[in-house]
Amino acid sequence: MRKQWMARRALRVLSEDPRDASGVWRYLEMLPFEKDAPFVTLFEGNTPLLEAPRSAAYCGLTSLRLKHQGYNPTGSFKDTGMAAALTQAVISGARTAVCASTGNTAASLSAYAARSGLRAAILLPRGQVSSSKLAQSLDYGALVLEIDGNFDACMRLVQELSDDPEIYIANSINPFRIEGQKTVAFELLEQCQWRVPHHVVVPGGNMGNSAALGKGFQELLDLGMIDRLPRLSVVQAEGAAPLARLFATLALQKRAGDELIPERLEPVDNPQTLATAIKIGAPVSWKKALRAVLRAGGQIISVTEQEIADAKAMIGRDGIGCEPASATTVAGVQRLVAAGQIARTDDVVGVLTGHALKDPDYMIRYHEGTLSLCSGGKEDRPPEPFAGTFRNNPKRVPATKAAILASLEGER
Ligand code: F0G
Repeated sequence: MRKQWMARRALRVLSEDPRDASGVWRYLEMLPFEKDAPFVTLFEGNTPLLEAPRSAAYCGLTSLRLKHQGYNPTGSFKDTGMAAALTQAVISGARTAVCASTGNTAASLSAYAARSGLRAAILLPRGQVSSSKLAQSLDYGALVLEIDGNFDACMRLVQELSDDPEIYIANSINPFRIEGQKTVAFELLEQCQWRVPHHVVVPGGNMGNSAALGKGFQELLDLGMIDRLPRLSVVQAEGAAPLARLFATLALQKRAGDELIPERLEPVDNPQTLATAIKIGAPVSWKKALRAVLRAGGQIISVTEQEIADAKAMIGRDGIGCEPASATTVAGVQRLVAAGQIARTDDVVGVLTGHALKDPDYMIRYHEGTLSLCSGGKEDRPPEPFAGTFRNNPKRVPATKAAILASLEGER
């Protein structure tokens, strides 16, 4: 089976067909679409698996690889799912696609809807989305609706809209999104030459990504392409960690022999994190994600704002960069190593979900030393900024050769 898989892969590398160049559509045999479907593509997928030696040392590992989904056409992992979802939207004759978003889903939907001739309408929590992501949706021509409320309120509205037959829902409750996003698992295993990593660690927000990766690995196992699942672990930001909280109670129950998935997830009413992509208190795909993690023997944990910020700067020192939500993975790996859940020499892959330029303001404030959880908020007393352990503030120098040489000397 592997031989046949790789033979088809080799043929597709040589093909000029845009479907064969897409990191989603070259796995057509694994997807619920006909050969002559009206494929939508922007050359999504095909993202690199990068060695990150400084981040590895930071985590206490001998090596660490990062699968960087930020190399996708709109700069986030959402594009693999949108290629599939918008293809299905065209098949079903939809005219308008709608999503709630913290920014990336919106940017991706807007681009893929524009490609497929559909109208995109996106619901964003007003004032809580990075301007880079908002700018993308505007540029791709979407109808941008800013809601007074958080992501969870936008998501509730989208669910209410789902009974309108004219409207196509593009959030990850849409199973075609998950189908597109599961292809990352296939691409990753190819890049690992089918040697299953011990651990795969992803950020968690609305939980579509972890559910999709879990599905992808499971399908490879069911086909006999791999002989075990990698341990899939999910990392949330401390102020927006409903599933990590639930997982901690499950872990206790598990010891008592009870592995049941509960009916209900206690939401976080007012989620808080500067990693705005994952500022979510009531994730819709939590059950699917939890099932995938339990099946794979992974963990669901949370990390602090300081840990996210420092991990992000460390990833930058590897010359890689990512948006804040993505850095939860490296922060999470560090925690799991410290807790003995990951061994120093284990083969670990962290998934980076978004490009560094998705949130430049965060980076500037980190390096200036002005990053604080409530910056921009309405508090009377400005909150204490937290220390940027790897701060790299710009230095102002006179416009002379001597001053520049003196600065270089000072840096040695
Ligand atoms: N990382 C980034 C950069 C994201 O944009 C998101 C989710 C996640 C991680 C979490 O992934 O939701 O599948 O668990 N962003 C959504 C959005 C919510 O609207 O762009 P998840």
